[in-house]
Amino acid sequence: MQKIENPSALHKENSVESFCFKQFWADENAEIQKIICQARNITTIFLRNHLLNQVIRTKQNRTRQNKKYIDRTHTMINKDSNRLQTTLCGITLDNPVIAASGTFGYGYEFAEIYDINELGTFSFKGTTKEPRFGNPTPRIAEIPCGMLNSVGLQNPGIDKVITEELPKLRACFHKPVMANVSGFSTEEYAYVCERLDAEEQIGWLEVNISCPNVHGGGMGFGTDPQMAAEVTHAVRAVTKKPIIMKLTPNVTDIVSIAKACEEAGADGISLINTMLAMRIDLRTQRPVLANVTGGMSGPAVFPVAVRMVYQVAKAVGIPVVGLGGVSSPEDVLEMLMAGACAVEVGAANLTDPYACKRIIDGLPAAMDRYGIEKLSDIIGAAHRA
Ligand SMILES: Cc1cc2nc3c(=O)[nH]c(=O)nc-3n(C[C@H](O)[C@H](O)[C@H](O)COP(=O)(O)O)c2cc1C
Repeated sequence: MQKIENPSALHKENSVESFCFKQFWADENAEIQKIICQARNITTIFLRNHLLNQVIRTKQNRTRQNKKYIDRTHTMINKDSNRLQTTLCGITLDNPVIAASGTFGYGYEFAEIYDINELGTFSFKGTTKEPRFGNPTPRIAEIPCGMLNSVGLQNPGIDKVITEELPKLRACFHKPVMANVSGFSTEEYAYVCERLDAEEQIGWLEVNISCPNVHGGGMGFGTDPQMAAEVTHAVRAVTKKPIIMKLTPNVTDIVSIAKACEEAGADGISLINTMLAMRIDLRTQRPVLANVTGGMSGPAVFPVAVRMVYQVAKAVGIPVVGLGGVSSPEDVLEMLMAGACAVEVGAANLTDPYACKRIIDGLPAAMDRYGIEKLSDIIGAAHRA
């Protein structure tokens, strides 16, 4: 078994999001190459060739355009703010774009490159009772239109989130944040939610019963209506904050799971988490991921997500948050038409750290192109006769 000399350094070094940021901020190519050699994550083509080059290019372009870009978009946002507003479980969002859990760290990391208050909100990294170092590496693999990950719920644990991460976030984010909660038992979900219930900063609890990358928890709760209801009940009993149950697409009947959560007291549903997937390295003839399987996300899963959001929105009376492969303003419009009242953006943040900002800034022009006055006008449009 691997000996962990310095758990907190390993936590930082291992996390996909902090890794992307190391690359993003490194100034010289040589420096980046050094980071690549040192970091434990850098074993895949995805990170070496694709992400790294893209991040460097993004940084160079953005630096050049930065001032012009910020001035222009601030004017647009002020002018268009009412058009973009939406409501999620009784809380108003300036716009429907929410950075998805696991792709945005605890938020403050991204505050170094843009004002994260421009987001509708974001969902922070899936948090468990105890700290977790996640799965062994390699735990990222490339696919033609997205990525696989088997990070395995790496996080510092609820105590550190409350005492260290949330105070850092408070300094740069002034909106209610979505807390993403994971667990390996019903009791653990309830414990973490109860601790977060006492935190004023938390607007919603997004309860992840859909992680495919851990054994003995996560997705296990989200594939059976009864177990999904059990977790919902347990969490409902410890908090008055809105509970959003996050569902897995790895089921045959998504509607039955969503309805079970609604009946057990959920205030909303978010979907989809990643799709269970696998890649094999032709040279080694072995699975690319150390965990063998991982979760697929990115543009490849978008049509599946739209289908499931449509089905769930039709069947339940509570708000639905749509995610899975969203990477453009047009994708946001499509998700809203399927019945989502807000949209999360995940893997796109890892290929372009400005993805959420770019999508928000692009929404007014995309709405104009399709003759949409206000986003609230199109929620569920595809369900109309
Ligand atoms: C690297 C990585 C880590 C993730 N970690 C979490 C997590 O901790 N909790 C969670 O609910 N979802 C997690 N997800 C799933 C995303 O939040 C999202 O549901 C999924 O990736 C689909 O959206 P996307 O295609 O926009 O990425 C993670 C996804 C990625 C790529």
